[in-house]
Amino acid sequence: MLTKTPDSSAPDAAADDALVMGPVLGIETSCDETAAAVVAADGAILSNLILSQIDQHRPYGGVVPEIAARAHVDHLDGLIARAVADAGIEFGDLGAIAATSGPGLVGGVMVGLVTGKAIAAAHKLPFVAINHLEAHALTVRLVDRTPFPYLLLLVSGGHCQLLSVLGVGNYRRLGTTIDDAIGEAFDKTANLIGLGYPGGPAVEEAATRGDPKRFKLPRPLKGRPGCDFSFSGLKTAVRRAVEALAQDTLSAKDTADLAAGFQSAAGDVLCDRVGHAVSAHRDIVAPLDRETEPMLVVAGGVAANQYLRNRLQKTADAEGFQFMAPPRALCTDNAVMVAWAGIERLRLGLRDGLDTPPRARWPLDPTAPPAAGAGVKA
Ligand code: KG4
Ligand code: ZN
Repeated sequence: MLTKTPDSSAPDAAADDALVMGPVLGIETSCDETAAAVVAADGAILSNLILSQIDQHRPYGGVVPEIAARAHVDHLDGLIARAVADAGIEFGDLGAIAATSGPGLVGGVMVGLVTGKAIAAAHKLPFVAINHLEAHALTVRLVDRTPFPYLLLLVSGGHCQLLSVLGVGNYRRLGTTIDDAIGEAFDKTANLIGLGYPGGPAVEEAATRGDPKRFKLPRPLKGRPGCDFSFSGLKTAVRRAVEALAQDTLSAKDTADLAAGFQSAAGDVLCDRVGHAVSAHRDIVAPLDRETEPMLVVAGGVAANQYLRNRLQKTADAEGFQFMAPPRALCTDNAVMVAWAGIERLRLGLRDGLDTPPRARWPLDPTAPPAAGAGVKA
């Protein structure tokens, strides 16, 4: 059933709360970034610190959960203290604590969650448990005051989903990946073509020099009904293309052409699936009777990709949708988005108990059926 959330649809309506609520400390530890940030209730970013663990994971070609959890333990306390100091405040000035409680690598999530709860208990502050995906989903509202509802393409290292965002905590999933997430496909492709870890930005950079037409790569599920995604066939096609070159080391041109070919195929697939989601989204929001222009939002780490942003802008234009994306630096994991999601929830009077558990899996739309495919991430 549709739920109207008029109180959460207009961020400006909460301006009064902004005057009474102190700044919120956000904590993010769900993957390989240790992050802490302080955001004022009106959305002003007072501090934003991110400690990347890239160097620790690079030798393994990907994130090692045990190493990630230990690194969070080693650095989180110091990072939080600095984030509060950089904001020019003391712990007692904070209005609340918001920590990512899932989904993600559960060892890392536990570190941030326990730390956040301890600070909340010590300073008698409200605590908010944040869904990492919701933090990505709401970031655009911090920057642009984007009103609900909007069609969201959520593209990250662990997820690739299309959702109708109807309000805080109110999501309707239209499609998801039936195998790999798109960020994962970028990272694996980077590895295959000699660009190493982390792959997304490296593929984007190499693609600027490449010919996207040289290698004929598939567009999985393109033109098929529905809004689901599939990327494993594309990744396999890149591997076959590399093998067919039969060289020990790829030339810079081969790497650039493969990167461009992969990125262009990924762009075709994303735009095709968004095209399918547009009408499903319109059907969902029509009964809500909100007089807002239809809006497409892209979020998550892969949304930092400028080529994909340009492609999605064109698709939105063609469909009569406005297009919004957070600044590139707020697309990849950060704690500003966690603090902001906390502010959005606090404005609605939502709080969580200190008994809130970490959650490895936490779908935004719990009613969505599993996608038909193997290795599905809801
Ligand atoms: O949201 P995020 O920082 O972490 C997760 O929640 O997963 O997303 C990380 C993913 C990685 O797979 C990374 O390669 C990808 O986002 N990514 C990019 C770009 N920057 C980060 N993919 C394509 N182009 C980029 N510029
Ligand atoms: Zn993320």
